[in-house]
Amino acid sequence: MREGDFDLFAKLVKTKSGIHLTPDKAYLLESRLMSVARQQGMKNIDDLADAVRRQQTPALISDITEAMTTNESSFFRDQRPFEQFRNFVLPRLLQSRRSSRLIRIWSAACSSGQEPYSMAMVLHEEQAKLAGWKIEILATDISQEMVDKARRGEYNQFEVQRGLPIQMLVKHFTQESDKWIVKDELRKHITFKTFNLMEDAGTLGIFDVIFCRNVLIYFDGPTKTQVLERLSRRMPDDGLLFLGGAETIIGVTDRFKAIREQRGVFEVTANGPPGSNVLLKQHAVATV
Ligand SMILES: C[S@@+](CC[C@H](N)C(=O)[O-])C[C@H]1O[C@@H](n2cnc3c(N)ncnc32)[C@H](O)[C@@H]1O
Repeated sequence: MREGDFDLFAKLVKTKSGIHLTPDKAYLLESRLMSVARQQGMKNIDDLADAVRRQQTPALISDITEAMTTNESSFFRDQRPFEQFRNFVLPRLLQSRRSSRLIRIWSAACSSGQEPYSMAMVLHEEQAKLAGWKIEILATDISQEMVDKARRGEYNQFEVQRGLPIQMLVKHFTQESDKWIVKDELRKHITFKTFNLMEDAGTLGIFDVIFCRNVLIYFDGPTKTQVLERLSRRMPDDGLLFLGGAETIIGVTDRFKAIREQRGVFEVTANGPPGSNVLLKQHAVATV
């Protein structure tokens, strides 16, 4: 890669998505952007860099950014978060939301959809307790390609073999040739859309639970802080946040605190901007 081109692409990707590319990722950038260059009918990365310098069209910026996302996911990834969701979070919500009977959950970097579908399977297991309740799951990702795949809910044999118990596969999927397709009973609770965590999430509403797992690892410290503070403003006083196994709030923000014996789950603190708790309470009532 020519001198200066790595910095050009890294700056563009950081500005658009928050993804922080260090020089040791130059090989990754080069291999992934080579396919973007080819799709654009260009010979190589030099041509792509020249095109970016000439004109940064939204489509080109999106293609470059999406190429630099890592979309690794699996059903019931790490298992424990979904056990905590079932055994710790749901009983709490069944108690605290018994008058509104509404639970809103956000999978904030849903990739190809395994995370929100896993939540929907847990909720389905608990359906007897949730009779008469309204459950909404919002699943978002910056990548249009991933959101489209998640919405289709079609998985190959390799994908369903990773983390999905066979009884769940048989119960919630139908097989069509070499594909497994999620049944509507799961899909009906989930809304899929693109959303960039660098943007204000005000229009999305308030969420009782946010899964923001395995995405902060791609951001630098100040970006992690901004994202977590933005998420805290989308949660009521008793909202709960799930982070990935390699992610933490320690040294990043004081808007969340760890919960004893619930590794990876965090609750909102009262450290938001003055008056934010009052606003959240009003919003929560308005949502009901
Ligand atoms: C490794 S996947 C994690 C998927 C899932 N949460 C899990 O734990 O299995 C990270 C996802 O974050 C998404 N992502 C990266 N930057 C983002 C941003 N600024 N806004 C929203 N999503 C982003 C990527 O497109 C990718 O699908």
